[in-house]
Amino acid sequence: MQSSGADLARVLSEQSFVTVKLPTDLQEMLASLDLEAQAFFRTNTATAQDIERSTTAWRTLVPRANGGTSLLGFNAPSNLKALFRYHRGCSNMMTWPSSSFQAKVEACECRLAGYLIECFDTVCAELFPGRAISYERLMSSTSECQKDSFDPNPLDLFYYYNTGNSGAFNCDPHVDRGLMHIVYSSSPGLEVFDPRTGEWQQAGGNDAGDDRRIPGTAVVFCNDAFATITSEGFKPRDQGKAEVRTTEVPACVHRVVQGNGPRLSISMELRLS
Ligand SMILES: [Fe+2]
Repeated sequence: MQSSGADLARVLSEQSFVTVKLPTDLQEMLASLDLEAQAFFRTNTATAQDIERSTTAWRTLVPRANGGTSLLGFNAPSNLKALFRYHRGCSNMMTWPSSSFQAKVEACECRLAGYLIECFDTVCAELFPGRAISYERLMSSTSECQKDSFDPNPLDLFYYYNTGNSGAFNCDPHVDRGLMHIVYSSSPGLEVFDPRTGEWQQAGGNDAGDDRRIPGTAVVFCNDAFATITSEGFKPRDQGKAEVRTTEVPACVHRVVQGNGPRLSISMELRLS
């Protein structure tokens, strides 16, 4: 587990993921949302009819600046999982299951975003000293026509049913498109590929390698956009040429395996659009 900004940057550069000890207030907020969200999904995904009713009741379609559409709120992207997605700035467009659920989602989103942006800025400061690279600066150089009216960073509550064979995949190995990711879960299931050893390992597992979580921790990993930026160099809009290639940070290859019993995962991805 990292203990400083330098360690955070070093570990991410070497293995593309890192286990972080969360601040106490964030631990408590996530634990509270975890319990409420588990109860919500347990009640509202028990049967196919429940899932259909939940989708009708709590799914929101939001037009995107690029012409596409975002699915917010409740959605069932496959027969393996359900999802509740929230973007900051969309609260008034969504139908919420309860005011308590809404309050916990909004509070966690705000605090997680702040924490993740701090991680990102810290890593950039370590990898690119003296360059004043930050998430805010990168966002300000993103083309206005690519920007939505709402915040681009989704907070996702994934609920994996885990009714199939233990060890089968809920999600095949992949990398995600954004800059950086943070995942909190009280149950095992997320596995990350360690490029140093060429082996998969359980994210957030303890040193004994069993299923117990390290209390109060989350996993931070790098995504495709950050890997691209660090391999090509930062190119703020007001500079006509690419900066010199400096440090490459690999995108984290990860997968989700089925376990015993349902699993809730609270996930936030930092994106530019
Ligand atoms: Fe992913």
